[in-house]
Amino acid sequence: MTDPAPKKLFIKTYGCQMNVYDSDRMADALAPHGYVPTTELESADLVVLNTCHIREKASEKVFSELGRLKELRDERRAAGEDMMIGVAGCVAQAEGEEIIRRSPAVDLVFGPQSYHRLPDLVAKALGGQVVDTEFPPEDKFEHLPAPRKEVTISRGLTAFLTVQEGCDKFCSFCVVPYTRGAEVSRPVNQVLAEARNLVEAGVRELTLLGQNVNAYHGLTESGRAMGLGELLHRLAEIPGLERLRYTTSHPRDMDHALIEAHRDLDKLMPYLHLPVQSGSDRILKAMNRRHDRDEYLRLIERIKAARPDMALSGDFIVGFPGETEEDFEATLAIIREAQYASAFSFKYSTRPGTPGATMNEQVPEEVKVERLARLQALVIEQQRAFNRSCVGRTLDVLLERKGRMPGQLGGRSPYLQAVHLDAPEHLIGTIQPVEIIDVGNNSLSGKIVMGMERNSASLVESRSFARSN
Ligand code: 5AD
Ligand code: SF4
Repeated sequence: MTDPAPKKLFIKTYGCQMNVYDSDRMADALAPHGYVPTTELESADLVVLNTCHIREKASEKVFSELGRLKELRDERRAAGEDMMIGVAGCVAQAEGEEIIRRSPAVDLVFGPQSYHRLPDLVAKALGGQVVDTEFPPEDKFEHLPAPRKEVTISRGLTAFLTVQEGCDKFCSFCVVPYTRGAEVSRPVNQVLAEARNLVEAGVRELTLLGQNVNAYHGLTESGRAMGLGELLHRLAEIPGLERLRYTTSHPRDMDHALIEAHRDLDKLMPYLHLPVQSGSDRILKAMNRRHDRDEYLRLIERIKAARPDMALSGDFIVGFPGETEEDFEATLAIIREAQYASAFSFKYSTRPGTPGATMNEQVPEEVKVERLARLQALVIEQQRAFNRSCVGRTLDVLLERKGRMPGQLGGRSPYLQAVHLDAPEHLIGTIQPVEIIDVGNNSLSGKIVMGMERNSASLVESRSFARSN
């Protein structure tokens, strides 16, 4: 007889949205084996750290967390209980055995390509420590059970869907091509089936994920490669699916069909994460980004011509090896020119095994700190200006949850801004035209435009912003 009591699974997710998606899929994989997600670390039977290796700080956090977990497990064991500790994600992939050497309390280490093997790995780990960082030949997505609403950690009205993994770009600062491997796109039918499944489970907004998502080239049943633009058209046909987003894109892969999809698909949100990293041609070349400043700016112009209400977000790195004050000022200049609605900025961090790690002229820490502060001041100013520019506009808001105050609901604008408004609870799950009346620190407030309330989320025909075509 097996123990009928469910086992509790606690997953702590670090890093990008792809890890958030992966954590859900791990929960999906373990659900048929009696594991139920919990938010209480102290009573978990299995704790998985789904790790990130993109910057130094991200991986160091994992090792300090493992120290704390070991103490917790010692206490549990003293009380006659037990707890299994697993490390997943990109640190697991990059460090493998090294993790067990540094943190002997760890029971299993497994990379992003092994999640479908998780039930087997857990069973094996009962007999001793297990490390699995292979890139197996089989398609993990085909071997993972379909996403199930009941075991979901992060899904609700919005969900992530990984369509592409890995990267062949080899930017000289980036560890992703080594930890996530070569670029692989999921077949079109697999993506469509998963999307339909999620919509049936109540999802209204889908964010397609990939390290280089716009390089998507999944095969159709007849063996033809389909690009992201065409995939978005296919997804937009799914009844009940109201909003589409995708991230993260590389400027080199914004092809014509994808830009046209922004022109043609109302469901595709006018908000694009398009990292440029630096505004200096010299640094862009050293970063192996394969485009220059002008090409990026021209691309943005084309995208905005196709979709005039488009807003951008970006990623920036300061202190890449060899970056001079002049190079840095070129980055500030491109930010002023491109105008971002939000941005993520980072100090360059040396990643072992990448070309950047062996470059001379590393920039001193205090210079990076100073440049980061200047860059962040500029992007915060732009973000505030963008939010203020929304006042007086009517934005479609997907109402997701009850607000903090009674009678209030909270939702997201097309630009992922949090919006609060007074509205009855039965409107949760619908998209409403909301006139923005005020801007707070982290959110907007507004009111539903009288006489334009929609009863069902499927009514998104009215455009909230004039478009030229
Ligand atoms: N140092 C600092 N930032 C980095 N990023 C990727 N690698 C590094 C690194 N070694 C940033 C880039 C990327 C984002 C996900 O993380 O800006 O777009
Ligand atoms: Fe890293 Fe560059 Fe690939 Fe993005 S495109 S994942 S930054 S190598």
